[in-house]
Amino acid sequence: MSYVKIREVNNKTNMKTILIKDFKDFKNKEVQIRGWVYNLRSSGSIMFLQIRDGSGFVQAVVSKDEVDSQTWTESQKITVESSVELTGKVTEHPKQKEVFELQISKLNLVQIAEEYPIGKKAHGPDFLLDHRHLWLRAPKQWAIQRIRNTIINATYEYLNKEDFIKIDSPILTPVSCEDTTTLFETKYFDLGKAYLSQSGQLYLEAAIFSVGKCFDFGPTFRAEKSKTRRHLTEFWMMDAEAAYIEHEENMKIQEELITYIIQKVLKDNLYELELLERDIKPLKKIKPPFGRMTHAEAIKKLQKLGSDIKDGEDLGGDDETLLTKDSDVPIFIDRWPKEIKAFYMKLDPDNEYLVLGSDLIATEGAGEIIGGAQREDDYDLLLKRMKECKMPIKDFQWYLDLRKYGSVPHSGFGYGLERIVKWITGVAHVREVVPFPRMINRLTP
Ligand code: 4AD
Ligand code: MG
Repeated sequence: MSYVKIREVNNKTNMKTILIKDFKDFKNKEVQIRGWVYNLRSSGSIMFLQIRDGSGFVQAVVSKDEVDSQTWTESQKITVESSVELTGKVTEHPKQKEVFELQISKLNLVQIAEEYPIGKKAHGPDFLLDHRHLWLRAPKQWAIQRIRNTIINATYEYLNKEDFIKIDSPILTPVSCEDTTTLFETKYFDLGKAYLSQSGQLYLEAAIFSVGKCFDFGPTFRAEKSKTRRHLTEFWMMDAEAAYIEHEENMKIQEELITYIIQKVLKDNLYELELLERDIKPLKKIKPPFGRMTHAEAIKKLQKLGSDIKDGEDLGGDDETLLTKDSDVPIFIDRWPKEIKAFYMKLDPDNEYLVLGSDLIATEGAGEIIGGAQREDDYDLLLKRMKECKMPIKDFQWYLDLRKYGSVPHSGFGYGLERIVKWITGVAHVREVVPFPRMINRLTP
């Protein structure tokens, strides 16, 4: 097997390498850039190279008449995805302001790429996912990852501003946080079984007694059998938890956080949204107050809209889509029947069959993006609920302990990062917004 050797990178010039995003500051100056040729076209004595360097995209031009013969000969060897170091002058497009080009004077071909498997013709999703390691380079994929990065940072910014402290919850856990049917298990030395975390919530509930307000942000795992556009087996969750916060205020924090994230993306990622052909008008309308509906009201509305959902049932993906169809803002669904929600949710003081839990359903058919609740803070009531749910009390004694030593009303919520990125980018499936998707039928690359 032979492979193409890479050449030495040119560090000998005094010229500083700049980023394509900064071209506007280097008008008519000689600069060097390093990147990849994602497309090229030649018309006789001129070559047009589409260059990407991670920070942006630019057209670079090689004119046979302007460069020495060696540079011209080299330029003729360039293939799609070849890596290049280019020196040249930054020029502004004669007709389009703020559109720049690079007029190449020198070219160092770092590696001549082999024939690139991803072409201009349309590929099916399986082909693209099999080539995810290469597909990530595509401009739309670049844009999605940049927006994902903004969402992550905006989340940290908002929570830090509101005095939430980052607390890392464990990934290997002895018990389930959500639904025991979706647990990934692994052998754990002499201690029996360990499970991959479904949510760090229970650990954050312990931490609030130390730091008051906290959040975690990391991979979580669900052995979900569901093959939908919204489910991954490995996804990134941000859980937030706060002492002395009750149900209503919990939803207010979620509303503010989501609004903050959207504003930040609209400020920092207009170029990326345009690349994705995302209509940003609906995003601009996302501001408080979000909609509110109880679970019972949601069922009634759905039945009116023609759904065959029965009273007391959980909402399916289609129901969620239907519910927000005519809403400009996300909608909180709260006061769910306790049978269809987790054991830790606090019972509604006005109706012991309901819990103070809320799901936040996003607009444009994006479905549930956040699950949250006020937590049961009373030792006896929590124990009773756990027994009803047939939970192994011994394994949860530490969690029950929290209700013995200075218990307080407290609430929290968890968002699925991929659900939010999917919603904001307008991409059809969560598998395209996580760098390397894990689903029932996919573990590679
Ligand atoms: O609604 P969930 O199951 O809530 C919890 O895990 C709580 N313990 C969170 C908390 O209160 N701290 O999951 C939270 C969010 C969902 O709203 C959804 O956005 C996302 O996680 N999510 C998934 N995303 C992708 N693939 C899956 N299989 C997901 N399951 C949940
Ligand atoms: Mg949920």
